[in-house]
Formats: sequence, structure tokens, C-alpha cells
Amino acid sequence: MYRSPVREAILGLKAYVPGKSIAEIKEKYGLAQVIKMASNENPLGASPLVCEALRRAAPLSFRYPQGGNPRLTAALGRLHDVPAARIVVGNGSDEIIDLLLRVLLVPGKHSLACFAPCFSIYPIQGQICGVEVRRQPLREDFSFDFDALLRLVDESTRLVFVTTPDNPSGFCPPRADVERLAAGLARKAPDCLLVVDEAYMDFMGDTAADECAASLLAGHCLPDNVAVLRTFSKSWGLAGLRLGYAVLPPALAEYCWRARLPFSVNLLAEEAALAALEDMAFREATLRTVREGRRQLAEGLAAAGCTVWPSAANFIMFRLPGEAQAGACVEHLLRGGLIIRPLNSYDLPDHLRVSVGTPEENARFLRLVREFLGENA
Ligand SMILES: Cc1ncc(COP(=O)(O)O)c(C=O)c1O
Repeated sequence: MYRSPVREAILGLKAYVPGKSIAEIKEKYGLAQVIKMASNENPLGASPLVCEALRRAAPLSFRYPQGGNPRLTAALGRLHDVPAARIVVGNGSDEIIDLLLRVLLVPGKHSLACFAPCFSIYPIQGQICGVEVRRQPLREDFSFDFDALLRLVDESTRLVFVTTPDNPSGFCPPRADVERLAAGLARKAPDCLLVVDEAYMDFMGDTAADECAASLLAGHCLPDNVAVLRTFSKSWGLAGLRLGYAVLPPALAEYCWRARLPFSVNLLAEEAALAALEDMAFREATLRTVREGRRQLAEGLAAAGCTVWPSAANFIMFRLPGEAQAGACVEHLLRGGLIIRPLNSYDLPDHLRVSVGTPEENARFLRLVREFLGENA
């Protein structure tokens, strides 16, 4: 009998926990309408230009995409004012995280360092790759202690992951602090790459100046031991098509292209991304909706007595007042047709995360929370 003799690293693996889907909750609770505010997707949906591009490209579905996705890397190079040769695109930034691990770390020999809690794909993929995962707890206020993170690093460490703004708290450190971390790493561990995951950077602050103060891609000063990750899943509204990218040191980009599966960015995703990059009106509307909705949610939750963490992203982390139970609140919202994210899988069982929706969705969420607290005060 075949005994499925998987590697030891896989035996103890806990899978990534995704947000619940609308279809699942409709079926479970017998609901006709469900609102999802659980996975930090775009509250405005997909751009009309993207939908049109997908319709146009659908008959080409039988073709393989062009190897190396050169039109897309050229467009992204223009967007960030970096050479296209430094850009690697992948099936979500998840694929790039996995690719960096496989290209740079030898199982059983190398280590990575990240915060705890953090976006769980870093430690999960690290475990799958068979490398040591070193975790530095966040400070109590969810800010980053970069000195302590640096102390975890030694000559075995090949990757350090930092998320700015962070998931799930929304905290964003100033760019100068991240640059100091990069300089410290360069001195202490010259073979270690700092991966700065800017999945939510577009939502930073209310002005372009805020983003400049935080993004390592603003200006021309990306340190040479730094990779920046971005995704089309959030501000560009393409989560379902799976597309992310990295700006990498040039030699590393070339190795990553050699190691990446040949067609992991499919033809429709590529066409959709090119169309999304043309639709700046949709993008502006998205950023406006998220920034206004973030205020609406933060003020509404605080007025209901919740503890709210300041967020630079398209979600808000909060804690209910008094003895109110996070799990019971999630259940109340689900019965009311609204999905948010419990944070048990981040080891934060008392905290909750809600993605910014449309003004109406935000108002419905706040009504349901007030209703729950009214019944459970
Ligand atoms: C911090 C962070 N990085 C990366 C990702 C993954 O993005 P993608 O959809 O591009 O794989 C997410 C998704 O939630 C995230 O929160």
C-alpha cells in the first residue's frame, strides 16, 4: 500500500488560511447577498478597461503567453522608473516569495528572518523549503524593532522579510528606518537580501508625499541588497487573476527568470494588467474610496468603543471593547451576510481585521458591529 511518505517539513505544516469566500457563506447561512471585507480586495471591483481587455483577449486563451512577459515588465519599468531587466513577474507576489526562497536558500543550511505576527506566507513557504525561520515579536503597539530583527541575522541568513505597510496591523515605518535596516544588514550579512513587501503601499497616507516618505521605490535610491514586492491584487483590482512582481538586484532578477516556471503569468492576467495600468481614473477612484473608507471605519469603530490601530493600508485592525468575544462577533457578522477576517491564524485571537469596502458596505459593517455590541455589552 502506498504510504504517502512526505518530507518531515510537510508533516507538521499548517496551511495558509484564506478569507472565507462569498459562495461558501451564502451556502452555509442560506443568504442571497453576502459582502466580503476579509481579503483586502479592491472595493470598486475591476476596472472597466480591464473587463474590456479580457473580453478582447478571451479568444487568444488557446495561446501560451509570450515568454518573459516583456510588454508587462517594460510597462512596470516605466511605472517605477527602473530598468525592465530588474523586474520579475509572478503568479501573485506569493509566487515571487516562494521563488526567492528556492533560488537563494539551501534547505537545512540557510535561515530567514521575519516578524511575528507577519504575512504568513513568509514562514509557511520557509518551512516548506526546509529552512530555519527566525521570528522577532512585534512591539506591543505593533511597530517594528529593526535592531532586534537584525540581531536574529547571522551568516546563515539569506532573506529578511519586512511588510510596509504591515499586514495585519496597517503600521508603516518611515522609509529612513527601512534604509537603516538595509545598511545594517549590508554590514552584518552581505549575502542577505532584505525583501520589502509593499503590497499595500499605494494606500499609504493621503498624498503622494506620504508614499514618497515610505516607499523604497520612490526616488532613485533603492539599496543594492533590497528587493521590493508589489501586487496587482489590491489597488489594481486583479486578485483573482494572480499577478505580482518584484524589483530585484539585476543579477538576481536574471536567475529568478531562469528558475521561474515558464508561463506562470497567464495571457489574460498580462492583458488585464496592461489595461489596468492605463486606467488611472479607476485607480484614483480606488485610492480615494479606500482613504475615505478607512476614516469612516476607524471613526465608526472608535465611536463604538473598539480599540483601533492606525492603518496606512486598505484594512483596519481592531479589538472589541470589554469582554465582547471576537469569534462571536465574526459569527454575528456572517449571519448578517458580512465576512471579515478573524486573526487566529496570526496568533491574535482577540483582534479582528476588516477590509475597507464601499461607503455603503462600511456603514453596514458598522451597523452590525454596533448591533452585536448592543446585544453583548
Ligand atoms: C503583505 C502581503 N504580501 C503579499 C500578498 C500576496 O499578494 P498576491 O495576491 O500578489 O499573491 C498579500 C496578500 O494578502 C499580503 O497581505
